[in-house]
Amino acid sequence: MSHRIPAIALALLVCASFAAAAFARTKPRYLPEYTASGELILPKNFHEWIYVGSPLTPNALNDGKAGFPEYHNVYMEPGSYEIYKKMKVFPEGTILFKELQLTVPGENADGSRKEPSGRGYFPGAFNGADVTVKDSKRFANTGGWGYFNFNHSEPKAPTAKVKAKEECAFCHIAGAKKDEVWTQFYRLLDY
Ligand code: HEC
Repeated sequence: MSHRIPAIALALLVCASFAAAAFARTKPRYLPEYTASGELILPKNFHEWIYVGSPLTPNALNDGKAGFPEYHNVYMEPGSYEIYKKMKVFPEGTILFKELQLTVPGENADGSRKEPSGRGYFPGAFNGADVTVKDSKRFANTGGWGYFNFNHSEPKAPTAKVKAKEECAFCHIAGAKKDEVWTQFYRLLDY
């Protein structure tokens, strides 16, 4: 009798372990970081984020001068993705990272080349990044998202100033399917 753990202690222990398990399931979030003057600091560890898609607009299909001839590899911050899956809205602080990645130089007029898997386009060097951040207060005049360019070349800039509405937001507002994000091209986010 004296060695028995009292029922109440046992119940507490069970509760605590359930709470710990629930806590462990919630991913920590990486939130946007700004300099004192309000520039966005290049987000950290984006290569470990949730990969959502890679639109490709090669030069050969755009009169030889595509604005973005690279793959547009898009990543979403994982803590925000967890919330998005449940709530189906982009939470405040969401970061979407579009890294540009050149194709390996082509052998044909359309920029394609032949590799053992077939003729096509293959990912080569990284080439800068565009980033969007959801913050309804800070970016109220561009619909709640801030737009940043971290160079269209390497290395990526360490910080970036927010872009004016007529440079970026106008086009996203006009054509993106959900809350200024082109979810129509990202199967993981299209709901
Ligand atoms: C003329 C229209 C247009 C303009 C201007 C534009 N974008 Fe986009 N943006 C798109 C389209 C279309 C996509 C998705 C397809 C793609 O990547 O080709 C996209 C995708 C993105 C993505 C990936 C996440 C998402 O919303 O789908 C980011 C980040 C992004 N753009 C940032 C920017 C930034 C920063 C600027 C300004 C420097 C900018 N965009 C200007 C059309 C535009």
